[in-house]
Amino acid sequence: MRALCWVGADQLAVREVPDPELRNERDIIVRVRRSATCGADLPLLAGRDPLLRSGDVLGAEFLGEVVETGPGVRRHRSGDRVVVGAGVACGGCWYCRAGLHACCDNGSTEPASVDDGWGRSDAGCFGRPRAAGGFAGGHAEYVRVPYADVTAVRVPDVVGDDRALFAADAAPTGWLAAELGAVRPGDVVAVWGAGAVGQLAARAATLRGCARVVVVDRHEERLRMAERHTGAEPLNYRRTDVSAELRDHSGGRGPDVCVVAVGEPPARSVVDRFGARVGDRPDALREAVYACRKGGTVVVLGGTDGFVDAFPLGAVTDKRLTVRGARRPDLRDVPMLLDRMARDELRTEHLATHRLPLEEAPRGYALFRDRADGCVRAVFSP
Ligand SMILES: NC(=O)c1ccc[n+]([C@@H]2O[C@H](COP(=O)([O-])OP(=O)(O)OC[C@H]3O[C@@H](n4cnc5c(N)ncnc54)[C@H](O)[C@@H]3O)[C@@H](O)[C@H]2O)c1
Ligand SMILES: [Zn+2]
Repeated sequence: MRALCWVGADQLAVREVPDPELRNERDIIVRVRRSATCGADLPLLAGRDPLLRSGDVLGAEFLGEVVETGPGVRRHRSGDRVVVGAGVACGGCWYCRAGLHACCDNGSTEPASVDDGWGRSDAGCFGRPRAAGGFAGGHAEYVRVPYADVTAVRVPDVVGDDRALFAADAAPTGWLAAELGAVRPGDVVAVWGAGAVGQLAARAATLRGCARVVVVDRHEERLRMAERHTGAEPLNYRRTDVSAELRDHSGGRGPDVCVVAVGEPPARSVVDRFGARVGDRPDALREAVYACRKGGTVVVLGGTDGFVDAFPLGAVTDKRLTVRGARRPDLRDVPMLLDRMARDELRTEHLATHRLPLEEAPRGYALFRDRADGCVRAVFSP
């Protein structure tokens, strides 16, 4: 079959790779109909993951049709249209039973690769072949989906592919941010990053009844999209004093909940010192901690690989902040989000700004990486 492979730093190629096969009784094989780029792919693309190997198949967000099922699969049959959650989770371990699929103890086939770094590994993930379990990704004609009754969810007929696709990762991640922030009716919420994840975090906050949601970015077209589709108030950090504006939007206190959904790693203190030379990007995490009202919550979704220098821990204690993090969403929210999509409460198809055949995926990734031509998500069809 054809698949998009990482072949070296900033080099991708569509290649012939072996067809996947059922390996365990709870596996299914899915014929991919759509797959999407994600901000989390960019560090991989740049070659910043030492566990990535030439030939690894990328793609964490995809949707397709079941073509084969293992004998232990109960919920799916051939022909079902399914969205496949980005995380691979067993459904039976202590964490899965607690609803924390992203922390599954059995999702990664190579837990030791991450245990050493963070204390314990998280679940597996498609398209992160070695660091997260060895699962080939969805930028391919076919994918093997393990623990299919847990990992794959049937899509209601009324929800089209371009909408349902984002129920795999971007929508549940956005939802998780609002949930971890415990967004309540009347809250003021600020989201750093107007990519698909930030926009869907903003939408989730409005669905939970927040009074205002502000989205911070530098890309005008992304900010306009967030404004048009989520009702968010846009703030361009290149043109405004973000902290002052946010205080202005929240009775002088600062937002109740701040979500960090930026795509770049945080600036290190040494980078800050030489900031003028490496670009004028403020550190979103630090800005969120400073801007958040006393007693508020900061939710960190991205831009945090590795260690963070110059983190204002004093502000966390002095202001009684709650800081919560998540690397990937939990599968439990996917059916609920598909229902909301079916009811037209949650629309996501506008995020698919570029639709391309799989053969053109390297070009799609270049557009996405450079945020060229207004690209928010490139979506591929094999
Ligand atoms: N935790 C999870 O479950 C999960 C799942 C998927 C993605 N992610 C992460 O979420 C983040 C966002 O994903 P995406 O696909 O929307 O990424 P993206 O790259 O499409 O968008 C990121 C946006 O952040 C903006 N940005 C960068 N620095 C900023 C700053 N200092 N202030 C304000 N905005 C800034 C960029 O301009 C860009 O528009 C990524 O880091 C990704 O790894 C997390
Ligand atoms: Zn589990």
